[in-house]
Amino acid sequence: MEKLIVHGGTTLKGRVTISGSKNSSLPILAATLLTKDVCTIRRVPDLSDTNYMTLILAELGAEVERASGVVVVEAKKIKSTAPYDLVRKMRASICVLGPLTGRLKKASVSLPGGCVIGDRPVDLHLKGLEGLGAIVTVDGGDIVVNAKKGLKGSEINLMGKHGSTVLGTDNVMMAATLAKGTTIIEGAAAEPEVEDLANFLIAMGAKIEGAGTHRIVIEGVKELHGAEHTVIPDRIEAGTFLCAGAMMSDGLTLDRVVPGHMKAVLQTLERCGFPIQTTKNTITIKPNPDAKGFDLTTQCYPGIPTDMQAQFCALACAINDTSTITETIFPQRFMHVAEMKRMGANIDLQNATARIRGGNALKGAPVMASDLRASAALVLAAIKATGRTDILRLYHIDRGYEHLDDKLSDLGANLERVKE
Ligand code: EPZ
Repeated sequence: MEKLIVHGGTTLKGRVTISGSKNSSLPILAATLLTKDVCTIRRVPDLSDTNYMTLILAELGAEVERASGVVVVEAKKIKSTAPYDLVRKMRASICVLGPLTGRLKKASVSLPGGCVIGDRPVDLHLKGLEGLGAIVTVDGGDIVVNAKKGLKGSEINLMGKHGSTVLGTDNVMMAATLAKGTTIIEGAAAEPEVEDLANFLIAMGAKIEGAGTHRIVIEGVKELHGAEHTVIPDRIEAGTFLCAGAMMSDGLTLDRVVPGHMKAVLQTLERCGFPIQTTKNTITIKPNPDAKGFDLTTQCYPGIPTDMQAQFCALACAINDTSTITETIFPQRFMHVAEMKRMGANIDLQNATARIRGGNALKGAPVMASDLRASAALVLAAIKATGRTDILRLYHIDRGYEHLDDKLSDLGANLERVKE
């Protein structure tokens, strides 16, 4: 295992190019299973989650070639059972369920385990596939889907108690592209990554309207053909760098971003008093020693993403004021709080609300990475802190960020990756 040694107290400056979105790449790679033709996906970030997905596609029988950020997939003949040993390593593998069901009218994918950010149920995924006429059972830890008589479009509501489901919407939308008739998904996730997937499916010949809103209408077609697609920029990586820029920089510019995907994050940072300038595909943030605290609640898109919650915790520690953060999507997603408190952070956690009194200097300490976004937040806190911080279990960061340590080093951070 590797760890990251961070020597804190440096000031970042310069420009960073944002990678393609992990959370767009994963369902889009899965969607290549819907056709026997060749698909080319560009700007797939080089990180362990996307590597796992390419391995799963290959295990299912697809020909997969990867050359830097370009992945070419030809799923001529595929199996309906996803390999347990790979699926168990990445919860997002659940998004092969929809394409396998759509293409083969049957699928078997192991039930994903929970993870540190909380329980990860899939009831809405299964409800959606049953809504399309599939018989869904859970047998020996596997989700087994059967639709021998084919899939039939219908009206399906995917709203759960914590809002809509991103991958659940993806799964139902993918399966519905090859169902008979019209499917209407109410309570659909409206994230840009869902819209990006829909744009790829439309390029493959699918008939989809309303992606990016909470109501998506899919007109089933007989089959889909190959297509090429460039994945949208990763708005969560971008948000992570914006927090870094606000915390400890002389000004930071992000290249290859879509400001329109990040309105809630940009508004929050501007309300704190951090000057933000945007163009069509860049964002520049400047520091402000007199920045004000913030009160935010994570929500489904277009609200503040849960995947930005830990990074905002780190930012709050650097603002000489009091901030509150309430997590509504994954109420237990606060593994980073105990670690930040080891660095001297003043955080009071009551149920799903963290109250952060920032401004006092953080001090370096050995800390443990837990989930990929918490880990990135610990890196930000470590660069801001004085002294040395060792961040253990670096693989969490490598799951979701493409060369994060290299990008931060290029901006002036003093960090090194070593064997634990
Ligand atoms: C996607 O996960 C993202 N992952 C997550 O990002 C992100 O945190 C999450 O959406 C929320 O935005 C990918 O896109 C690969 P959900 P997903 O289904 O789709 C509940 C990261 O850091 N729910 O939208 O699995 C669920 O418990 C990762 O990159 C049900 O109740 O999340 C949660 O409270 C972490 N039943 C809420 O809905 C279901 O069947 C949202 O979950 C499904 C979900």
